[in-house]
This record gives sequence, structure tokens and C-alpha cells, in this order.
Amino acid sequence: MAKINSNYQKLQAGYLFPEIGRRVRAFAAANPEAKIIRLGIGDVVLPLPEPIVQAIKDASDEMGARESFRGYGPEQGYDFLLSAIADHYKSQGAAVEADEVFVSDGSKCDTANIQEIFGLDNVIAVTDPVYPVYVDTNVMAGRTGEAKDGRYGKLVYLPTTAENGFEPALPTVKADIVYLCSPNNPTGALMSRASLEKWVKYAKENEAILLYDAAYEAFIQEPGQVHSIFEIPGAREVAIEFRSLSKTAGFTGVRCAYTVVPKDLKARNDQGELVGVHGLWLRRQTTKFNGVSYPIQKAAEAVFSPAGKKAVADNIAYYMENARIIREGLAAAGLTVYGGVNAPYIWLKTPAGLGSWDLFDKLLNEAHVVGTPGAGFGTCGEGYFRLSAFGIRENVVEAVARITKIL
Ligand code: MLT
Repeated sequence: MAKINSNYQKLQAGYLFPEIGRRVRAFAAANPEAKIIRLGIGDVVLPLPEPIVQAIKDASDEMGARESFRGYGPEQGYDFLLSAIADHYKSQGAAVEADEVFVSDGSKCDTANIQEIFGLDNVIAVTDPVYPVYVDTNVMAGRTGEAKDGRYGKLVYLPTTAENGFEPALPTVKADIVYLCSPNNPTGALMSRASLEKWVKYAKENEAILLYDAAYEAFIQEPGQVHSIFEIPGAREVAIEFRSLSKTAGFTGVRCAYTVVPKDLKARNDQGELVGVHGLWLRRQTTKFNGVSYPIQKAAEAVFSPAGKKAVADNIAYYMENARIIREGLAAAGLTVYGGVNAPYIWLKTPAGLGSWDLFDKLLNEAHVVGTPGAGFGTCGEGYFRLSAFGIRENVVEAVARITKIL
């Protein structure tokens, strides 16, 4: 009899967003007249900017002509895109070379898959609340032990709550791999330069690796803030960075992201020898991945063109204005709100006596507004609730009016 990977049975509940989708579908079926406003999963609503659409059309035409048709591309990504990404990093003050960039179909996949190249005996640290993919993929791999009261025995949890200003403290036990996300999903908090310097120092002193998820860096509004971990001296020896075009450029349905594995990054093998991590990820990708399609890589290249940058900045400004409307509207009604300044997520404190899922049900049933319960991101997310700024303006305004009417 074939056996399953029993680690899957350690997973708690279903993946958060399908569970929310299930509840919303059930509500919609029972209340077909309700005009539901969805500010739950962070999914973009504005159409792709024109320069990006044009790049897809042009590349499709190339694929339709015998002389310019292309088959398999390089697994790591086409040179034109790798160079555009490396140039973008350099313009942000981060030293990244084109051959350190790996183009993929999403940061969810990359942050999920990266753990495969590390040993099962690493001690993993995650913030709490946390993007669930980091935790669940380590559960599937067998690194976490069993769950008890919503937490896995072998994971190190770093609370990030209002009490510590949403800045994770350094672990009190030695962690080998630390997942950090800034601007943060779900709290919307941004890690300061001083904090990132502290983490790089920690990683160096403990021979740890930082898995730095910067999927929302393009939403940073305040000048002088850190966009890439590689702006921090020494980070090239201790960090991997993940970035996505999903939210940045409206690619949630297009699929393109990139991961930077610096050639300076090393970790130890079972014999205690230092091994380059870049080569391992290259090996993994060339074995398991055939790259992103040519038209989509041309679309991604267009994101970094002057016209693409301008169009993408306009869309981000639209979403960040939504964030301002939500943040200020809820605060004016007396709610305690965080985030929404350098990130497209608003993290609000649930009103007294209401748990995260209670507020989810209340907003769905009484305001017909969908958000994301903080408890779905970890035990420290209990008592919080996330609203996404990815909505059509009039829906966002309407959602704020409906929420403030009932809370
Ligand atoms: C979210 O809402 O947290 C994100 O859309 C999830 C994701 O990017 O996978």
C-alpha cells in the first residue's frame, strides 16, 4: 500500500484564503441580493498598464512567426529581464548581479520551495503573525513537529504585535533560518534600517540565513526607507530576497516574480564544509522548473521601462490612496489601525470582546464586507483583522462607510 507524506496531516485547517472563499461563497448563495465588497485576499483590480499589454502582444506576435518563434527558454530567465532587474536593484542602492536573479512564476512558489535546499534539522524562526506559506511548507517538509494550540513545537515564533511596534525581537534560541517580510504581510509594518542591520548582524554571528520577502517593497511611500535587504552591508553573505510583480504591476493573474540568491551566500553541509547556496537553487530550478513564458518575461521587462515604471507607480498611488481612505476613515470612527502607510494592508485591532473570526463573520453578515481575520496568520494575529487596499475606489469608500456604521 502506498503511503502518504504524513506531515500533511499535521497541517492546521485549510489554507487561509480558500477557507475565506468558502465562507463567502456560502454567504453569497444564501444572500444573493447582498452586494459583497471583497477586501480580503490581496488581489489587484486595476487592469494591466498599456506598455505591459503591448509587450505581451508584441511577444505573442514574435511567437507566431517562424523566424522569431522560441521554444524552451533559460530556466533562470532571459538575459534581457535578468539585466533589467539587476539594474533596478542597482538604482535602489543594492548590489545585485544579473546572474544572481532567478525569474519565476511567483513569490508564493519561491518562498514555498526555497526550504527544499536546506536540511531538515535547521531551526526555523517565523514572525507571528506570518504569511502562512512559510509555516505550511516547513510543516509539509517535516521540520516543525506537531501543532498544539495553533503553534508547532519545533518552530521558533517571534511575536510582532502593537506591544513591540510590530518589530520582531531577535530569537532567544539559536535559529538557523529566519523568514522576514517587509513591508509586512499581514501587519503592513515596515522594518527600519536599524532593525535590518541588527538582523544581518544576528545572521552573521549565528551562521543563519535570512529569507527576506520584499513582495510589497514598491508600496513603500516614505523616503529613505529600505527597499532591499541588500542595501544593508553584509546582507549578501546571509540573505535571499524574494520580490513579486503580482501586486507591484498587476501580475496576480499573469504570474512573474524573482528571487535573488547572492553568490556570497554559503551554508554548511553534513561534513561542516561551506557550500554556495546559489548553486543549489540553480540546480533545483533547472531540475524542477522550465522558466516563465517568453511573452510574460517581455511583459515583466516592460515593467522596468520608463513608461512601465510610470504606469505602475500610478497604479500603486491609486491603491495607496485607498489605504489612506481606509486607515483614516476607520481611525476617525475610533478604531485602532496600523499599517497602510508603506504597505497596501491595514491591520486593525478588533473592537473589545470580538475575536478575529467573530469580526470576520460580523462584517460579512452585517456590512457585506470581506476582510481577513488576523488569527488566520497566527496566534498573535488574534484580536486583529486585515483589510486590503486592493479595491475599486468607490467600493473602498463604501466599505469604510458600512464598517464604521456597525462598529
Ligand atoms: C494575501 O492576501 O496575503 C496575498 O494575496 C496572498 C499571496 O500573495 O499569496
